[in-house]
Formats: sequence, C-alpha cells, structure tokens
Amino acid sequence: MTRVSGPVLGLPELDIPHAEMLSLADDVAAAARSRQARQATTHLDALIEATALHFAREEEWMDRTSYPDRAPHRTAHDLFLQDLHLSGQELRASGITPRVLDWACGRLQQWLRFHMEKNDRPLARHLEHVTRKRSGPPAQHRS
Ligand SMILES: [Fe+2]
Repeated sequence: MTRVSGPVLGLPELDIPHAEMLSLADDVAAAARSRQARQATTHLDALIEATALHFAREEEWMDRTSYPDRAPHRTAHDLFLQDLHLSGQELRASGITPRVLDWACGRLQQWLRFHMEKNDRPLARHLEHVTRKRSGPPAQHRS
C-alpha cells in the first residue's frame, strides 16, 4: 500500500484507516487515468468497503460520546457513500467515462481530504478530550 499524504489528526484510530482510504482512492484514480475499468472497479469496491466500515466506527464513537456535531457528520458520510456507489454503478455500466475520470482524480480526492480536515479533525479533538477526561486526573485539577 502506498502512503498518500493527507491530514494527520494524531489519533491512530482515525489516521490509520484514513491513510488506507486515501491510498485506495489514489489507486482508483491511477486505474482510471490508465483506463483500466476493471482495476478501477476493484479498487473502488475495496474503498467502499473500507469507508463503510470506518464511517460506522466513527458514528459509533460519536453516538457513544454524544458528539454534538454527529448529525451533520453522519449526513456527510451518507452523501459520500452514495457518491461512491453512484460512481461504482457508472463504472460498471459504462467504464471510464469522462465524468468518472474527473470524479476519480478530482472530487473523490478533494472530498476525503476536506472531510478529514473539516469534520474529522474536530471529532479527533473531541475524542481525545473525552478519553483524557475518563482516564486522566479529575477535571478541576487540570488547567
Ligand atoms: Fe468522518
């Protein structure tokens, strides 16, 4: 797996799956650029699986810790998964269309990084805060 750079949030529970998702998205783009529809489909299926699994984990952590922004965060996940499935359908039906190529090299890459930066970074801070509160010193003794 190639390491593709993306936002580093400092929580391995997020950073490790994110790196895997970025790497798979990069594989989808590379296959699309070289017009390898079958390869692109295989990588996209792997990306959908990894993404669905990771989103479900994030959503479970958000629910368990009553994360205030969980509703919009969950909506963002749902829309992105829909987008992945639609592109998968198009890829299967019509191969590497200009729209699929644009999407694989553009919006797919941008969405993941944008979401990690704008949605997952605040979630990482929240999860760190909650964990520190549980295992650290009593709140009134902390600065
Ligand atoms: Fe997320």
